[in-house]
Amino acid sequence: DLIHKVNHPAPAASLREKNMKNITITINGEHRTLGIHPDEKLSALLRREGCKGVKVGCDEGVCGACTVIMDGQTVNACHVFAFQAHGRAITTIEALGTFDAPHRLQSALADEGAVQCGFCSPGMILSAKVLLDKNPKPTEAELKEHLDGNLCRCTGYEKIQSALRKVI
Ligand code: FES
Ligand code: FES
Repeated sequence: DLIHKVNHPAPAASLREKNMKNITITINGEHRTLGIHPDEKLSALLRREGCKGVKVGCDEGVCGACTVIMDGQTVNACHVFAFQAHGRAITTIEALGTFDAPHRLQSALADEGAVQCGFCSPGMILSAKVLLDKNPKPTEAELKEHLDGNLCRCTGYEKIQSALRKVI
């Protein structure tokens, strides 16, 4: 109807479509070709593709809640444009374990009561995984330093650290 067209003009939508570009990206082992907008962040792309474990807290590279693994390195997905992930392999928390068969890091945090609201947990776990993949026996100082960019507003860190120490 006319009112609908005035409120939602078609040209804006087609301009938006014009700005879309395609990237190829591997998300949790699955090769994908996805349309993105030039200013879209990787965190937004991953969430719209169903990876809701990518949490967006600060949205400016400070809190680590949006941590994902890109080609073996942790990155803050809110600080990476989606186009920068072209040709890259991304791992999110969705790839690590299931409710029935959790990853050992997920079990450790749950067993230790190191999860309260859980907002920081995916990022913490992915950061810890990258460290342990490279260095299975980190010192306590190395563990703390590696998780420095992952903030938790609930647990005070002690339980998280002790849960992770039990895995090492
Ligand atoms: Fe990305 Fe905080 S949401 S670092
Ligand atoms: Fe709530 Fe860490 S458990 S922010």
